[in-house]
Amino acid sequence: MYVIGGNASKTVAGDISDILKIPLAEIIRKRFPDDEYYFRIKDDISGENVVIIQTTYPDKNIIELLIMQDAAFEANAKSITVVLPYFGYSRQDKKFEEGEPISARAIAEHISLHADLVITVDPHKEHLLDFFKVPAYSCSAVKDIAKYLKSKDIDFILAPDKGAINRAQKASKIINCEYDYLEKTRIDGETVKLQPKNLQTQNMNVAIIDDIISTGGTMAQSIRELKNQGAKKVLVACTHGLFIGEAKEKLLSAGCDEIISTDTIENEFTKVKSAKCITDVLSKNKNFKSK
Ligand code: R5P
Repeated sequence: MYVIGGNASKTVAGDISDILKIPLAEIIRKRFPDDEYYFRIKDDISGENVVIIQTTYPDKNIIELLIMQDAAFEANAKSITVVLPYFGYSRQDKKFEEGEPISARAIAEHISLHADLVITVDPHKEHLLDFFKVPAYSCSAVKDIAKYLKSKDIDFILAPDKGAINRAQKASKIINCEYDYLEKTRIDGETVKLQPKNLQTQNMNVAIIDDIISTGGTMAQSIRELKNQGAKKVLVACTHGLFIGEAKEKLLSAGCDEIISTDTIENEFTKVKSAKCITDVLSKNKNFKSK
């Protein structure tokens, strides 16, 4: 059995290899002069079960993943488990307007071509798993995020929109504090509007939890709301930290006291590891061939 670590997920792959005590396959990867990707598995994986780990963001990492899967298929791997620490395109999970694609489904179908099992961390919505043509399961890093937050004296958890309520509730249980949510309307890719709400968070240390921080607009608005209502400290935590453009500056200028993210997309705010939740779900999965 081998773990094959993608370029986008080297840390997670290393951690999974350590936890499951499965060696990392020796590989060669490079870019051709025209920037096309070259990948080769040096170990003989014929007849072996393999776990390929690669976040599908940004776009070039999708191509890398498909090429890695094809290499494993060509090398006659016995089974291919694909771990997607972050499954990109998850926010285009339906046609919002006529003429649009269901992008998440398009990517999922391609990944399914050479996969026996797919695992992903905190998908934007659970129904995304149905887009894969092979068994697909999710795991959640919220428990590990909450454990980190517990050491930060958090009094209150806030979900910045209705979609994050379950995460907030789960974290608040672990931290043993109250939680609430805001109602958000998205105006465009960078702008959101929050419905005013009395949050009762005066002099409290509040953590806002979401699955993704992208442009930081959602979090920045929520931070401002909390600070306006007298919160003492406001921390923001997400599983997938994209931090596009000026996201960091937006959060800090809104008054954010700490930014926390996992390593599903490695960034300067990575403080929580995702490998544990992945290996927990992998080891329990009946489709996972661990020998
Ligand atoms: C959307 O529903 C997601 O859960 C996040 O709230 C969203 O992706 C955050 O985007 P941004 O950081 O650009 O506001």
